[in-house]
Amino acid sequence: MSRPYNFSAGPATLPEVVLEQVREEFLDWQGGGSSVLEVSHRGAAFQELAQAAERDLRTLLALPEDFAVLFLQGGARGQFAAVPMNLLGEAGTGAGTGTGSSADYLHSGYWAASAIKEARRYCEPHIIEACSQRGTLAGLVDLSDWQPSDDAAYVHYTANETIGGLQFVKAPHTGADPLTVPLVADMSSDFLTRSVDWSRLGAVYACAQKNLGPAGLTVVLVRRGLFGRARIETPSVLHYQLAAESASMQNTPPVFAWYFCAVMLRWMLEQGGLMALEQSSQRKSAKLYAALDQSDFYDNAVHPDSRSCTSVPFTLAATELEADFLSEATAAGLLNLNGHRSVGGLRACIYNGLPEKGVDALVDFMENFEQRRG
Ligand SMILES: Cc1ncc(COP(=O)(O)O)c(C=O)c1O
Repeated sequence: MSRPYNFSAGPATLPEVVLEQVREEFLDWQGGGSSVLEVSHRGAAFQELAQAAERDLRTLLALPEDFAVLFLQGGARGQFAAVPMNLLGEAGTGAGTGTGSSADYLHSGYWAASAIKEARRYCEPHIIEACSQRGTLAGLVDLSDWQPSDDAAYVHYTANETIGGLQFVKAPHTGADPLTVPLVADMSSDFLTRSVDWSRLGAVYACAQKNLGPAGLTVVLVRRGLFGRARIETPSVLHYQLAAESASMQNTPPVFAWYFCAVMLRWMLEQGGLMALEQSSQRKSAKLYAALDQSDFYDNAVHPDSRSCTSVPFTLAATELEADFLSEATAAGLLNLNGHRSVGGLRACIYNGLPEKGVDALVDFMENFEQRRG
């Protein structure tokens, strides 16, 4: 039986061949007679796996050497707290040196707002409106002339707003050296789907359950030169420097999630690396937006210059048909096309694990539904 196509925002669909490999290896990992769930994370086999995962991730991302790679827990929301705790420094110790008393947060939608809410526990962040309404379309604003606030220890932005469907084409310009006022990106929903300009970035984080693997693991990439700024009360499991010094193994890590991500990273390399993943992401999203644009029956309310390549919200002109659309889509093997509970409507997440054929099937279904019900 063929598997349905799953457009969930996360935990998201995973490539069938990766799932099969994991099933294959589940009872007896590497011929040792134990499942990967049953081996010590300090044993040689798991240590090797962890090193291979880091190597593969570095290769895929062309990550500069001065970035540490951390595999942490707590999800992206954990990082909403970890970022201020690690990068604000002790309050009031100096502006423009990475130890300012506040931070700049670009506000682009739901996830940026959630990061801001958490940051308020640690400072009074400056909010920079990064999204505006242009007629009927929402779009990201041009921040090319923008300068960080004098007392900003860092600048935070959400590379892809998973709910609103807006994506920064390029990292915002801060004009500052990444070790002075580092740019910090939440890349949870577009991680490993496109190349990254590391020159502007000080730190990046992404939860795994969208583009990289199962829930339970959060990847943090942070310049080692930013160590030493953590507040004294930072819990050691969220402390970047301590995590780096212990190779992300201060405590027992989520071994299964880590193993799964290692298999996924290998699969990504076999697909042709980041360039191939980016091309696939571009093709999939272009097909879906073309279908939305050529119809008055469907609508995507994001300006073309800010559209996300991984999470595509849309609506029906006849909103009363949404429930039928969803139930018929499910019956046709197209799952989880409902929008986020905070906004309703419809949404297709087309992450790395979703094959292009899934988008083709969705587009066919949309055309067919429109012909019958439009
Ligand atoms: C952009 C973004 N940031 C943060 C999160 C929260 O991730 P987590 O559930 O791992 O805390 C999500 C989840 O959907 C997201 O899309």
